[in-house]
Amino acid sequence: MNDPGVTVLLLTVGLPGAGKTTRARQLAKERNALRLTPDEWMIPLFGEPEADGKRDVLEGRLLWLALEALRLGTNVVLDFGCWSRDERSAIRWLAKSVGASCDLVYVPVDHETQRARIAHRQSTDPDQTFLMSETDLLRWRTMFEEPDAAELDGQEIGSPPPDWPGWTEWAADRWPSFT
Ligand SMILES: Nc1ncnc2c1ncn2[C@@H]1O[C@H](COP(=O)(O)OP(=O)(O)O)[C@@H](O)[C@H]1O
Ligand SMILES: [Mg+2]
Repeated sequence: MNDPGVTVLLLTVGLPGAGKTTRARQLAKERNALRLTPDEWMIPLFGEPEADGKRDVLEGRLLWLALEALRLGTNVVLDFGCWSRDERSAIRWLAKSVGASCDLVYVPVDHETQRARIAHRQSTDPDQTFLMSETDLLRWRTMFEEPDAAELDGQEIGSPPPDWPGWTEWAADRWPSFT
């Protein structure tokens, strides 16, 4: 549990269909937080979740907005799902740089449960989602970097990859439009 006086960034982590947005909605209510879910912007704006790299551009603006809100003392749930450790480290570092704390909200899911949840969402909320094949699910699972105990405990943030001066520069490359 965080110090109630400290503004917090809650960052969802997990595969598609894990239940991240469901959890993000609960947390936003409990913590009186601004929830930023990229799919809720991508689908209305572009009718698809990726749209030729536009997701990275959108996420850069949402990340910028998240930091503005944290600076103003508003808790934020950033529902990015962050598959890579570097993405999580960058966002944790940025939250810290504006005086906020950051909690990873990892939503693990096994393959069968994931399939069942995606099918459930497809039948109940077809406008909020997009089709995912079995091949996609298996490929994404191999790409996902599961957070380790040190990350989940909020321990020290590692350095950016070689040749990057800092996480801000790394983030501006990963999410064009961030700075
Ligand atoms: N804990 C849960 N138990 C059962 N069903 C769930 C649970 N969490 C989410 N769901 C359902 O699974 C589907 C996917 O959840 P969602 O939150 O959209 O996943 P994600 O944001 O990770 O892609 C939705 O239909 C949702 O209602
Ligand atoms: Mg979601």
